[in-house]
Amino acid sequence: MGTTTIGIIGCGNISDAYLKGAAASQLIKVKACADLRPEAAQAKARLYGIEAKSVEALLADPEIEIVINLTVPAAHASVSLQILNAGKHVYLEKPLSAQLADARAVVASADAKGLRVGCAPDTFFGASHQAARHAIDGGRIGQPVGGTVAVLSHGMEHWHPNPGFFFKAGGGPILDLGPYYITQLVNMLGPVARVAGVTTIGNATRTISSEPLKGQSIDVEVPTTVNGLLQFASGANLTLSASWDVWRHQRAPIEIYGTEGSMLVPDPNFFGGTPMISERDAPWQPLDISAHPFGVNNRTKGSGEAVADYRIVGVLDMASAIQQGRAHRASGALALHVLEVLEAFERSSNEGRHIVIESRCERPEAVPLGSGEEVFGAAYAVA
Ligand SMILES: NC(=O)c1ccc[n+]([C@@H]2O[C@H](COP(=O)([O-])OP(=O)(O)OC[C@H]3O[C@@H](n4cnc5c(N)ncnc54)[C@H](O)[C@@H]3O)[C@@H](O)[C@H]2O)c1
Repeated sequence: MGTTTIGIIGCGNISDAYLKGAAASQLIKVKACADLRPEAAQAKARLYGIEAKSVEALLADPEIEIVINLTVPAAHASVSLQILNAGKHVYLEKPLSAQLADARAVVASADAKGLRVGCAPDTFFGASHQAARHAIDGGRIGQPVGGTVAVLSHGMEHWHPNPGFFFKAGGGPILDLGPYYITQLVNMLGPVARVAGVTTIGNATRTISSEPLKGQSIDVEVPTTVNGLLQFASGANLTLSASWDVWRHQRAPIEIYGTEGSMLVPDPNFFGGTPMISERDAPWQPLDISAHPFGVNNRTKGSGEAVADYRIVGVLDMASAIQQGRAHRASGALALHVLEVLEAFERSSNEGRHIVIESRCERPEAVPLGSGEEVFGAAYAVA
């Protein structure tokens, strides 16, 4: 396979993960980056040996085929439309947009132009999440009937250098972290049919405790505690709790209950971890994830915890899919369905009724067994 030339717009906190991930692959090569703040683009360009350009110059570069949009959620749709209008494929960070209508416009524009939209998260490519899906597909817990999701913390003003956007439209635990969980649920169980929710703003203001904005106050404009119900087209129904108002808890990220057993699925914010399975009421047993790619720990978090983090594989999959003329897995259709589900929690709470989900998406193709190199044609070195 050839090398696809990439540009990046948005040179903030998460851009290092993409720039480091891209450097490990022969399948893509980042040529240039851009940011509203030229100094941010120049800093990343120096660090990674690429060119810093204006957004306009990057979009006018004929060599660049895919642009990765790493701007804040409020800018996701407008920047993605700019990229598509320049005739380039776009892969962007989640959520697809802060507004469902804008997200629909992005996918429609790409479809009309014959271009691709890819969207994070790509953590469902991870070994633990693929192994969990494999176990469900293999009937290990029978027909999934119920389950629970818990994504609970006291985020995000204590670590991010500029955390305001987390508490504005497009942020909140449901739009910021929900994509990881709903995407993995769709990967395992298929599309969602309807949603109910209740939402609360736990704290009207947040005081930033991270540098450099320490001491500044953020007005919270989005719900920070959300409890909901998800009914899948398959008939399974799950509860979901997402909150940034919780100091401590003891719930597993995802539990799935089937007619023949139960499964615990690790945090879909990362690629690895060990799913646990119980057939009927037998003791929990670990699922072997070693046959699946992207499960080996390759990063140590600030807390000292080792994690598997291969954020970029969604871009690699899209680049190889374009070359091979096949569908890519972290698709615009999947991200649009996930966003419709996420928005439905607040709508349900505001309107006091279930929300029927209009969009349907196919489950993404399972990631083949093997190593990362095998999956992406010797293109992805496991760091
Ligand atoms: N930080 C993380 O750990 C993390 C993890 C996963 C996903 N994300 C997602 O990645 C995205 C970016 O997050 P971040 O933490 O890097 O944010 P950030 O605020 O650190 O960086 C965003 C950058 O985009 C630039 N920008 C904003 N609007 C722009 C525009 N219209 N044109 C050009 N540049 C523009 C800003 O100047 C800034 O440098 C968000 O959607 C977030 O949800 C972040």
